[in-house]
Amino acid sequence: MSVTRIQLSGAPCPIPRHLQILLDETAETLGDWQGETEAHTFVPADYVLVFDALYELRPQMPKGRRPEFLEWGSGLGIVTLLASALGWKATGIEIQPRLIRSSLETSRAFDLSARFLEGSFFPEDESVVDNLAKLVRHADLIYVYPWPDQEIEIFDLFDRYAAPGARLLTYYGIEDVRAFQKL
Ligand SMILES: C[S@@+](CC[C@H](N)C(=O)[O-])C[C@H]1O[C@@H](n2cnc3c(N)ncnc32)[C@H](O)[C@@H]1O
Repeated sequence: MSVTRIQLSGAPCPIPRHLQILLDETAETLGDWQGETEAHTFVPADYVLVFDALYELRPQMPKGRRPEFLEWGSGLGIVTLLASALGWKATGIEIQPRLIRSSLETSRAFDLSARFLEGSFFPEDESVVDNLAKLVRHADLIYVYPWPDQEIEIFDLFDRYAAPGARLLTYYGIEDVRAFQKL
């Protein structure tokens, strides 16, 4: 495997006011989604923790062009929207249409330019999004909060298709955000 772990300082950074409003407003929507029984249940990450990691990784992105961000399973779109606000060209892939609709509404409401694609991020799935390989190859940072049974496949996808130098940010649960880099 050509993926190595990189250290995050874990230093908290103050969230800009407009993004705190985004988090506060979407927090109200979150409750409606928890406990859903669909096959691909949505569970939110700790967005303050993930924001700290995005903020730390942002200066490490390539210079001279807008870096690209991709979220595998974007849920309500919050992390993709935070990445967009921090200057990434941000795309979220999500399999549940209702979550895509909600993400697009939030993106419009906060005047952000994130893109949300409906479908699967697993290449072998029937519902795979168009141009998945290209999206992954172009991503400078991929973020995912995987289900435990997806973790190995996720690493394999990143290892096989991400560009050398790309970062992977994973949320595994309370206080557990990790970063990796493709060599
Ligand atoms: C644990 S939730 C995390 C949501 C979001 N990334 C976050 O950090 O708040 C996982 C999300 O991945 C989506 N998902 C699961 N499998 C997927 C797949 N194969 N393709 C696209 N989305 C998927 C689910 O619908 C759900 O919204």
